[in-house]
Amino acid sequence: MGALLILCASGHGKVVADAALATGRWDEIVFLDDAWPEKKENGRWAISGKIENLPDWRGRLKEAVVAVGNNRLRLSLQRRLVEAGFEVATVIHPSAQISPFAQIGAGSVIFSNAVVNVDAEIGEATIINTAATIDHDCRLGSAVHVSPGVHLAGAVSVGAYSWIGIGGVVRQMISIGSDVVVGAGAVVVSDVSDGMTVVGVPARPIRENREVYKC
Ligand SMILES: CC(C)(COP(=O)(O)OP(=O)(O)OC[C@H]1O[C@@H](n2cnc3c(N)ncnc32)[C@H](O)[C@@H]1OP(=O)(O)O)[C@@H](O)C(=O)NCCC(=O)NCCS
Repeated sequence: MGALLILCASGHGKVVADAALATGRWDEIVFLDDAWPEKKENGRWAISGKIENLPDWRGRLKEAVVAVGNNRLRLSLQRRLVEAGFEVATVIHPSAQISPFAQIGAGSVIFSNAVVNVDAEIGEATIINTAATIDHDCRLGSAVHVSPGVHLAGAVSVGAYSWIGIGGVVRQMISIGSDVVVGAGAVVVSDVSDGMTVVGVPARPIRENREVYKC
């Protein structure tokens, strides 16, 4: 047992904290957020300082994880953790079903009732959200976010920084590029190029991406 440092006191951060405590591996959560000291709490947990003072915490805490929804920011903060000498934690809720033949990258978080099947590969700093399923042979790049209730069929690939919105479904063998946004409830039946937002059933492009992340 020990303490886990979580960067960013977001709603997502609360779910990371909850999953971390459920593992029994950590018994204390320390949040850092640059809104401190104006913001002092994240729900039931105290916020203890600013992210900019991260190196000051290295003497007291060993393991840390980033709980930022924005995919690029999450990976860049994870790199700052490594530079500051922290061990990057991977947090997997005990109710998630992870094949022993799947690979999970450092700093990824996998929430309750998610499934990661045989020979799937998940990159670093990736979010597999509540009850999402990643089937056999899927390949997810770094800093992907798979939202709650998404289903990726077998051998789907998803490039770095892409976000699959809540309830999305992706047909087997489909290739989704980098920096893609798949809208909530979309059904993806053809490949998606880098940087596109697609929505609907079947999913169609609506534009090239700007910063749309609101989680
Ligand atoms: C795709 C998405 C990112 C677009 O957000 P946005 O940039 O704010 O886009 P807008 O709401 O301005 O919508 C643009 C158009 O696309 C349509 N649209 C947006 N999202 C859609 C979706 N999921 N399915 C179908 N159509 C959608 C809108 O109706 C609108 O159509 P119009 O131009 O004919 O009026 C967003 O709607 C979405 O689905 N986000 C996922 C949310 C999510 O998964 N949250 C959970 C996080 S854990």
